[in-house]
Amino acid sequence: MTTTAPPAAEGFRVDPERLGRLWRRETGLFVERHPRSAALAESARAHYLFGVPMHWMRDWPLPFPVAVAEASGNRLKTVDGDELVDYCLGDSGALFGHSPAPVVAALAQQAPRGLTAMLPAEAVTSVGRRLADTFGLPHWQITLSATDANRFALRWARAVTGRPRVLVFDGCYHGTVDDTLVDLADGGREGAGGARTVARASLLGQVHDLALGTVVVPFNDLDAVRRVLAAGDVAAVLTEPALTNCGLVPPRPGFLAGLQVACRSSGTLLILDETHTLSQGLGGCTRAWGLDPDMLVAGKAVAGGLPCAVYGFTAELASRMEAAKRAAPDGHSGIGTTLSANLLAVAALEATLAEVMTRSTYDAMLGQAADLQGRLEAVLAGFGTPWSITRLGARMELQFCPHPPADAAEARAAFDAALERALHLYQFNRGVLLTPFHNMLLVAPQAGPADAARVADNLGAYLEEVST
Ligand SMILES: Cc1ncc(COP(=O)(O)O)c(C=O)c1O
Repeated sequence: MTTTAPPAAEGFRVDPERLGRLWRRETGLFVERHPRSAALAESARAHYLFGVPMHWMRDWPLPFPVAVAEASGNRLKTVDGDELVDYCLGDSGALFGHSPAPVVAALAQQAPRGLTAMLPAEAVTSVGRRLADTFGLPHWQITLSATDANRFALRWARAVTGRPRVLVFDGCYHGTVDDTLVDLADGGREGAGGARTVARASLLGQVHDLALGTVVVPFNDLDAVRRVLAAGDVAAVLTEPALTNCGLVPPRPGFLAGLQVACRSSGTLLILDETHTLSQGLGGCTRAWGLDPDMLVAGKAVAGGLPCAVYGFTAELASRMEAAKRAAPDGHSGIGTTLSANLLAVAALEATLAEVMTRSTYDAMLGQAADLQGRLEAVLAGFGTPWSITRLGARMELQFCPHPPADAAEARAAFDAALERALHLYQFNRGVLLTPFHNMLLVAPQAGPADAARVADNLGAYLEEVST
């Protein structure tokens, strides 16, 4: 195992040999303590690819996946008897804590009364009103996943504008939507041919040239956006208000306002994917930062963790969408799925909007997240570690660079797989579950100061062990 230490401040250096020893020791500890998960992982190989029902479950930086016994609030218990403080929260699906009581009650009430009917539930009217109140957009559609919502949003955008291309930012992730699984060539590094859009190298089975329909530019680069939009052939810009899937890349002051102006003046729709940035506060960054998108997508946590997502849009766009649908021949629109807006999902959505995703829930999450950030920063400062914590409400990211990155190229330059996976395993073996993709922590409303102290103490002990 090798590591490239981050740019070292005076006195702080990661020792690759110490890191390697720690990794081997922690791997041994993990294996010793998880015999039941090991046995389940082995027997599951008989029926599942890589021994898991969804192959990403192998992407955790653990020797094998742990099996879940139960999860509640901000705690997750494994079949081996661990009780973990959960800062992954299903990668946002359980952002408001596992199994919120109002959602559990709504499911228990709805389940015996029908699960799916491909007809609207009685509750959809009040759900629509709540979505409008929460996010500030008047019209909505409901899907099964944020991936679906993004895919459909892009299809509507092309339908109403008649334009072929979409623009996304380097380092983006919007689910498994082909149009968005693209990168800048050469990791987006300047002077390395970075202006070219290419399919993500890791994609399987990719046969279409994604660069025909999508163009990628660096986040925070308004000039690059303007240059692309000037051609007048871009239907929509799809972005998160801050990139959360390539480390955490916040917008520079004025970037989002400039993006809105560039979109409006070129007739391009602006679609904000708030699936992860729901962490910022009630109504996501759109509400918190006074943004004005044409469309907004929210998924994962929006129905308390049930498969459900939503996309909303302005009244003007709604009438263009209805006109586009009417103008098309009868038949498949390529938008929607059979189980979308099913009775059970709508019940969970209504309960979440009414009783879970509330201001008081956010107050609790944001307070605890600020406390955790302060503790982690104090530990980093104590070691003179040139790393940073970037926080977006209840979501934060520990990055191996002194300041938040400005774009994906900078974020990638700070990645260090060996340091990262060892940190995850070290925290796991001491009762803390981090989100497997990069160093992301999501703070549930149930988290308390003792939980934050545990993560910070673990970080301090880790730094002590790996540094010279
Ligand atoms: C910003 C963003 N949008 C959309 C998605 C897709 O969500 P899902 O996998 O639930 O479809 C993700 C998944 O991580 C995401 O991070």
